[in-house]
Amino acid sequence: MQTNLRGRDMITTQEWTREEIDTVMDVAMDLKRSRALGLPHAYLRDKVLAMLFFFSSTRTRSSFEAGMAQLGGHGMFLAHESTQISHGDTAKEIGEILGRYNDGIAIRHCDWGIGTQYLRWVAEASRSPVLNMQCETYHPFQILADLMTIKEKKGDLKGKTISVSWAYAASYQKPMSVPQSLILLMTRYGMNVRLVHPPEFQLMPHIVEQAAENARKHHGSFEIMDDFDAGMKDSDVIYAKSWGAMNTTTDNAEGAAIIDKYKDWITDERRMAMANEDAIYMHPLPADRNVEVTDGVIDGPQSVVFDQAENRLHAQKAVMALTMN
Ligand code: CP
Repeated sequence: MQTNLRGRDMITTQEWTREEIDTVMDVAMDLKRSRALGLPHAYLRDKVLAMLFFFSSTRTRSSFEAGMAQLGGHGMFLAHESTQISHGDTAKEIGEILGRYNDGIAIRHCDWGIGTQYLRWVAEASRSPVLNMQCETYHPFQILADLMTIKEKKGDLKGKTISVSWAYAASYQKPMSVPQSLILLMTRYGMNVRLVHPPEFQLMPHIVEQAAENARKHHGSFEIMDDFDAGMKDSDVIYAKSWGAMNTTTDNAEGAAIIDKYKDWITDERRMAMANEDAIYMHPLPADRNVEVTDGVIDGPQSVVFDQAENRLHAQKAVMALTMN
């Protein structure tokens, strides 16, 4: 267990060691137990987290805000359009000023080619830790909750197979931060990671290279496939969600036309039956129901999506308690 995490940014899990991430899992489980037992755990009394959103959210906003209240502190919601950012406040000013008022700054900024850099600039200027509530590259808190959920459901991850698959969705071109963070972290736990997508939906090349290197170091495997059905076979975890063709085109109309070629990439009962009998179905939500996944699968006995969503709360509280105290 690592006890020197005070002041650390969480922008990507890749910048935290395995031992540090294991510490987060350990503390998260302890906090989950305390909440279940009704035991107080106000480790962040009088502390404030500024939560700056450039993009909408249900789970991330409410779990960070509830988490801060349960830890005895306060989560301050800031919608970017209600600030002076569009009138000239720079990332450096946001880091300097919000870092002086608050004990942590959490940011969601998913704009292509801008979000991750914005977080880095704020972190450089801030004296308080910066927490990434999702950018176009990473979604670390989703993936920490996912790791916790897979550990709860499957025990030791080593040698287990996870299919991280693209799926069709029509609502909007979703960021690629979830599959990217998944392939980065699950390869560090010795899993057999399958990244499955049509040719146009490749992830960022530097992330794919890092995932392959992680798999090599941690004696797992990493494989890229383009056949949804083949990816399902013998899998223990099915994690199938949509993402945009942003690495192929940044033109929204062209991206939508590419997506429409793959309307049959839906997780349905036929496909789930190809995975191991005790396989779990995961999705970070929101899902396009009966487009991306059928009601029968997402509401079915193999789905763990609500446990996954709950674990956002516990994993985030663990990182906040460790970094903001
Ligand atoms: N999974 C997730 O990040 O959900 P929200 O977009 O609702 O925050």
